[in-house]
Amino acid sequence: MLLEVISICVLAFGTILYTFRKSQIGMDIYYTIRYFYCGIKYWLYDVFDAKYNKISDLPSMPDKIAIVTGASRGIGAEVVKKLLQCNMEVIIACRTINAGEKLILEIRKSGITSGCAKVYKLDNASFKSVREFAEQINKDYSKIHILINNAGVMFSLVYTTTKDGFEEQWAINYLSHFLLTFLLLPLLEAGGQPDSCSRIINVTSCANTIGDMNFNYIKNCSKNTYCRHLSYAESKLAQTVFTITLHKLLKNRSVNVQVYSVHPGIVRTDLFKNTFFAQDGKWLTTLWKTPEQGAIPIVYVAVNKDVEIKSGTYFSNCKEVAAPSLALKEDIQKELFELTLKQVKLSDFFQLL
Ligand SMILES: NC(=O)c1ccc[n+]([C@@H]2O[C@H](COP(=O)([O-])OP(=O)(O)OC[C@H]3O[C@@H](n4cnc5c(N)ncnc54)[C@H](OP(=O)(O)O)[C@@H]3O)[C@@H](O)[C@H]2O)c1
Repeated sequence: MLLEVISICVLAFGTILYTFRKSQIGMDIYYTIRYFYCGIKYWLYDVFDAKYNKISDLPSMPDKIAIVTGASRGIGAEVVKKLLQCNMEVIIACRTINAGEKLILEIRKSGITSGCAKVYKLDNASFKSVREFAEQINKDYSKIHILINNAGVMFSLVYTTTKDGFEEQWAINYLSHFLLTFLLLPLLEAGGQPDSCSRIINVTSCANTIGDMNFNYIKNCSKNTYCRHLSYAESKLAQTVFTITLHKLLKNRSVNVQVYSVHPGIVRTDLFKNTFFAQDGKWLTTLWKTPEQGAIPIVYVAVNKDVEIKSGTYFSNCKEVAAPSLALKEDIQKELFELTLKQVKLSDFFQLL
C-alpha cells in the first residue's frame, strides 16, 4: 500500500515536472528523478541477476587482437586485464600514454603474465585524434578481431564542445566511436571468419531508456539549451540505435563482423564524479558492482561462443535483454544514421570496404 502511494506521488510529481520541463530547472529536476528511478531499477537487476554475471572460464585466444577505448582506468582497465588473461593482444586506447603504461605495469605486477598489451593514443574529443589513431593501427596491423567502444564521460557540468564543435558527451561517447568503427571496419572484416566473426561492442548504459532521440535537441544543443542528463542519455541511446542499424547493414553485406551493445551495470567508478555519489552518497556506491564485475558482461560478449549468433543484441549481466523500444524504430535508426554521417563528415559508411 505504502509503495503504491509513493509510486503514485512520484508519478504525479513526474507529470507536473514533465509539463514544466521546458524550463532549464524543470528539465534538470525531471531528469534527476528519472535517473534515480532508472538507477534503482537497474541496481536491483544487478542484485537479482548477479548469478548470471559470470564467465565460467576465460578461453585462451592467443590469435585474437582486441582494441579497448577508454582503457586506462575504470571498467575499461578491468576489461583489458581479462582479455590479457585470455592470452590476447590488447590495444589500450587512451588519452594519456603514461596512464596506459602504468596500467600494464600494475597488471603485470598483479601476476597476470599472459597476453600482450600495447598503448596507443586516442582522444575521443577530437576527430583528428580518432583518424590518427586509426591510421596508426592500420599501419601496424593487418587485422583486428574485437573493438570495444568503451570510453565515456557523464554529466559534464557545463556545456563543453569538442574541437569539432559538438557537445562533448555526444561526441566522446557516440560520434567518435561511430567514426572509429568506420575507420577500423576493413581491419575487422579482415579478422572475421564465417565461423568466428569479428566483434564490435558498444558499451552503452541503462540511461539509454531515458534518452528520447530528440533530434531537435541533438542538432541544436547549445549553452542555452544544454541539459547534462539528457545529453548523456541521448549519447547512450544513440550507441544502442547504432548497434542495431549497423547489425542490419553488416548482415545485408554478408560481412563477417558482428555488433553488440552492453550495459555494464551500475558500477563504482569515477564516471559518477559529477554526481551526489562522488561525495555525500559515496557510501551507497559500496552496494554497486565493482569495476571488475562491470567488465564481466563486456568480456562475456567479447569471448563467448554462444553470442556468435546474436549480433545486434543488447546484453546486461551476461543476459540478452530487450533494447529500448525507440531503438527498434526504423525511422529513428535511419534519421540517426544519416545525421551521424553528416556530423562526422562521411558520405558512405562502407566506402573503405
Ligand atoms: N560506471 C557505470 O555505472 C556505468 C554504467 C553504464 C554504462 N557505463 C559506461 O561504461 C563506460 C566506461 O565507464 P567507467 O564507468 O569505466 O568510467 P570511468 O571510470 O570514468 O572511465 C572512463 C574512461 O573513458 C575515458 N575517456 C574519457 N574521456 C575520453 C576522451 N575524450 N578520449 C578518450 N577516452 C576518454 C577515460 O580516460 P581518461 O583517464 O583519459 O579520462 C576513462 O578511461 C562508459 O562508456 C560509460 O558510459 C558505466
